Amino acid sequence: MLFDVRPKEDKRDLYDRERELSEIRESIDRRVWLSVYGFRRVGKTSVVNVAVNDQRYIVVKVNLMRLYDPKKRRYSRPDFIRVFLEGINEAIRRYTLGGRVVRFISNVLGVDEETFLEFNAVKIGVRLRRFRDQDINSVIREFNQLAKDNGKILVVVFDEAQELMKVNGLNLPSLLHDIYDYCKDTVIIFTGSMIGLVEGMLRGLEYDKPFFGRLIRRVKVDKFNEDQSRDFLHRGFEEEGVRVSEDVINDAVTRFDGIVGWLTLFGAEYSFRVKHGESVDLSEVEGMAINEVKEEFKGFLLGSQSPERYSAVIIALDRLGGKGTLGEVAKVVKALIGETPESRVYEILNRLANMGFIENIDDEYILPRDTPNRKGMLMASREVISQR
Ligand SMILES: Nc1ncnc2c1ncn2[C@@H]1O[C@H](COP(=O)(O)OP(=O)(O)OP(=O)(O)O)[C@@H](O)[C@H]1O
Ligand SMILES: [Mg+2]
Repeated sequence: MLFDVRPKEDKRDLYDRERELSEIRESIDRRVWLSVYGFRRVGKTSVVNVAVNDQRYIVVKVNLMRLYDPKKRRYSRPDFIRVFLEGINEAIRRYTLGGRVVRFISNVLGVDEETFLEFNAVKIGVRLRRFRDQDINSVIREFNQLAKDNGKILVVVFDEAQELMKVNGLNLPSLLHDIYDYCKDTVIIFTGSMIGLVEGMLRGLEYDKPFFGRLIRRVKVDKFNEDQSRDFLHRGFEEEGVRVSEDVINDAVTRFDGIVGWLTLFGAEYSFRVKHGESVDLSEVEGMAINEVKEEFKGFLLGSQSPERYSAVIIALDRLGGKGTLGEVAKVVKALIGETPESRVYEILNRLANMGFIENIDDEYILPRDTPNRKGMLMASREVISQR
């Protein structure tokens, strides 16, 4: 179903994305590592899930979003190992692999195989720190061999890959170099919405000596254009058997600005209410999305070094009609909270752009155009400022 709000797994539930799917599959088949990036809720996880959902691949998904906490600048190593082993464990179950790799992991952890297979958090938890970088490599080498023996390709997906840089004591370049050198049938896919941060990480890897000259292919997932948004909604409502007026569709297309995550949430909620004979108001559904962004962005602001300045920058951009240059933003920020060095405003604007909250095109900084993001970020900023 198009309006299923979980990330899609099956091609039947995915609207379009033909270009992205073929770019991803072609890269995998040529053993080229890749990065799939794009703004929040634009459908990165879904497109990667569907692309790798193929008999020819063995897939390990490392969902780093499980680590994500805006209040934390670093993650502990055992927390990362847990997420990594969860991904391994899921793959072992899905492909009913077992044998050596299970024995190896249980051995390192010092637990019996059942404990690892059940992923018994209590028994495993304290033992995670035994898992060293070499052990991660051994596990991936083992999977690579399994894939090879079966004529398949191992695909390891690091979802929200920028979080890898925050793991204490993880030597990421050497980990990846080892995979690159020894696992010829393995492809790594990095995804992330914090576009600038992922890009920074990848460039660091590419310029690092052993990687020199080797490129990680970039695949961008774009927002839908107006026609795609409209068509997506029509098809989704048809699947649900729900009739919706053209006015409501047009209104949704404008407000959600091609962000498929919002279109899906809207479609799901609207259909649900209509089917249960309730009246629905687009603004009410939009309010749910605004609230989601507000809470998320507030968490980010409160975890930042200067919540007040970050908030002022967002409010300033809004007052400037949604976009402005550094000079313009700095002026409004000054009016809002008093003297703030322009170099600091510059840093904040770039950090917001690197995190994928705003866009930077030429010398302009731009707020998202969809109302959930725009209003949600603005409301969070106003709340934070008023509490200071
Ligand atoms: N092409 C598509 N067709 C149908 N639904 C989609 C499509 N892409 C994404 N969705 C839906 O949109 C929502 C967001 O998708 P997804 O989680 O894949 O995006 P994301 O870019 O990974 O988001 P995030 O930035 O939160 O990680 C989900 O509800 C998903 O089901
Ligand atoms: Mg995602």
